[in-house]
Amino acid sequence: MGKIVQQDILEQLEQLRQDAGAALAQANTTEATREWYAEYLGRKGRLTGILRNLGSLPVEERPLVGKVANEVKVALENAVQERQNAIAQAEMEAVRRAESVDVTLPGRTQTLGKLHITTRTLRDIYAIFTAMGFQIYDSPDVETDEYNFQLLNMPPGHPARDMWDTFYTTTPGLILRTHTSSGQIHAMREYAPDPIRVILPGKVYRYEAVDASHESMFYQVEGLAVGKHITFCDLKGVLINFANQMYGEGRQARFRKSYFPFTEPSVEMDIDCVLCNGKGCPVCKYTGWLEILGAGMVHPVVLENGGYDPSRFSGFAFGMGSERMALQKYGIDDIRYFYANDMRLLERV
Ligand code: DAH
Repeated sequence: MGKIVQQDILEQLEQLRQDAGAALAQANTTEATREWYAEYLGRKGRLTGILRNLGSLPVEERPLVGKVANEVKVALENAVQERQNAIAQAEMEAVRRAESVDVTLPGRTQTLGKLHITTRTLRDIYAIFTAMGFQIYDSPDVETDEYNFQLLNMPPGHPARDMWDTFYTTTPGLILRTHTSSGQIHAMREYAPDPIRVILPGKVYRYEAVDASHESMFYQVEGLAVGKHITFCDLKGVLINFANQMYGEGRQARFRKSYFPFTEPSVEMDIDCVLCNGKGCPVCKYTGWLEILGAGMVHPVVLENGGYDPSRFSGFAFGMGSERMALQKYGIDDIRYFYANDMRLLERV
């Protein structure tokens, strides 16, 4: 290696200052300034490389070189600091611009969810009956044969059981309730001998061939009033009041004789068709009437099974399918829409 002289080192430092300055001007990212730093000012960088030769200079020449080297170092450190600040600011500015919101753009309409038609129908029914003093009573979906049939005056083998196609479980005697009438016994056994006025809403299950008017699961709302002086007039008054509130004032109602094992006498209630006002249309099958529920005076055997003495107590009961009510009210022609999760139905009603 040749002899190092002070002049050479000073020139190298000057060269370094110029090269570093030019390279820094090209560094456009924080990452690039870090690489730049390592190359020029880092522990293995060019400045360190130059200063390594300081030891071979005569002692009296060292202070000047040291001073110049320090000036170069400070100048470059200031420069890189400044550059990094500028880059950080530019990067922040870019992010700000990319993420900024143009408040003059028109807004996007939000779609609001709404309650399912069954929920709304049930709530309408609850509101009407609770205003007449009925309480809402919950009873189980999974029932015993005893509560669903026997205590409702249908012993095993009773032909009326054929009115309900039943889902049986693998546990003998345990079934899915075919109607909410089973809840009548639960309510009576809880309250007897006090008077009761309850509605019993909930899901019921039938082993049906599913079609436009039959589903294997649907909702019913049962009603039950038991007391000392309850008559068929009370039944009619309550149900006519209900129909007027549910379907609009001025509805015509008619009661047809019918048969249910748990009521005597039994009726079915029709109202004049809400779609054609009784003139006749496909929904009422051109009869002008819509059947809305079954009802009757609670059979003495059922009262007794519930814990009431039938010689002192009487009562009325009724049962309606809430989907059928919604079908009629909203003019829907197929019960399968209710639980098929088809948005078109949910949006329409
Ligand atoms: N449980 C009957 C059914 O599912 C409906 C019914 C009829 C309920 C008459 C009653 C009633 O409480 O009195 O078809």
